[in-house]
Amino acid sequence: MQLPIFKVERWINEYETRAAYELAETDIKAFTLRELLSFGDLEAAKEDLLNTRLAYNPTTGSDGLRSAIASLHNESPDNVLITTGAIEANFHVANALVEPGDTVVVQFPAYQALYATAEARGATVKFWRMRYEDKFEPDIDELRKLIDNRTKLVVLNIPHNPTGAVISEDQLRTILRWAEDEGFYVLCDEVYHELETTEGVVPPYARTLSERAISVGSMSKAYGLSGLRLGWIVGPEELIQECWEWKDYTSISNTPLSDYLATFAFRHYDKIRERNISIARSNHRTLLEWLKEHEGFFDYVMPKAGVLCFPKLKNVPISSEQLCREVFEQHKLLLVPGECFEMPGHLRIGFGGDSERLKIALGLLSEYLNSHFRPA
Ligand SMILES: Cc1ncc(COP(=O)(O)O)c(C=O)c1O
Repeated sequence: MQLPIFKVERWINEYETRAAYELAETDIKAFTLRELLSFGDLEAAKEDLLNTRLAYNPTTGSDGLRSAIASLHNESPDNVLITTGAIEANFHVANALVEPGDTVVVQFPAYQALYATAEARGATVKFWRMRYEDKFEPDIDELRKLIDNRTKLVVLNIPHNPTGAVISEDQLRTILRWAEDEGFYVLCDEVYHELETTEGVVPPYARTLSERAISVGSMSKAYGLSGLRLGWIVGPEELIQECWEWKDYTSISNTPLSDYLATFAFRHYDKIRERNISIARSNHRTLLEWLKEHEGFFDYVMPKAGVLCFPKLKNVPISSEQLCREVFEQHKLLLVPGECFEMPGHLRIGFGGDSERLKIALGLLSEYLNSHFRPA
């Protein structure tokens, strides 16, 4: 199996250690360990951590953590596998399900992992395109036409990276009904699920709606705990077993420290959510104001959820990749070009970070744009 270079991951890695500011990350402002533990009894949590045996964790994840995730999805812990981030979760689902000759339909543009593994396994991957001209609104009639009798898997990302688009509950229920009738699975990458910047737009976790749904989640994006490298799959028990067999060959188990901290985070989830959603909403307003002031340089659709926006450059006669390189050289500001998503001409702006630093970063981008180009 041959996997292509993962463009966005390599792009970020090339620059991030040298960047002074960034609009490239996809997660909400990361917690420090102290900040996280302060949501509970700090001293007791410190003792727990100091007494943790640095041994292998149960390979499927601890019972406590699996139960916490299972209950979010109205499921049993047997339907949950803990993984090293959503990246490992998606990898195992594709490997467990996809055979050469299968059709896999993937929402596009897409985080590359959501289609590259299926392609590498010999599937025919068909893209269900979200177009800027349609305000990135998903058109499920188009999806219907892509599903054929060899379709094994439909891959959705709700809310969506990089556009911030959201498939509605009605649309999701329709897709899941097709899956039930026709026997394919729906992998729903829900890593941005809790970052609901617009109240009420995000549908329930797919796994709560259908037996054919597989929900993938993570502590990274919406929880602000990407350093835990902890994700999960919630799906049919047979699939969980198969993914577990794959996991024995990739990571075996997660660290007991991450398992403890993720379980701790679920215990204090209300406070975590309050902090994260308030950063996301305030930064969403900052970005919107900034984009309004820069309409000479961008066409844009504000994201419905998540902390990513995918505006299209205008009146800028260079490629988005060159622009990102120049901005980095001149201001040490890291951005992601649309080329990483096969959509040249766009920029991906991640706005989940520290609110004051976001303002500075946007100011640097203004400085670059205003000193090099003239809006028409
Ligand atoms: C849609 C999507 N899925 C999965 C991942 C990987 O996340 P994790 O840190 O949980 O491995 C990302 C990271 O950018 C993502 O955007």
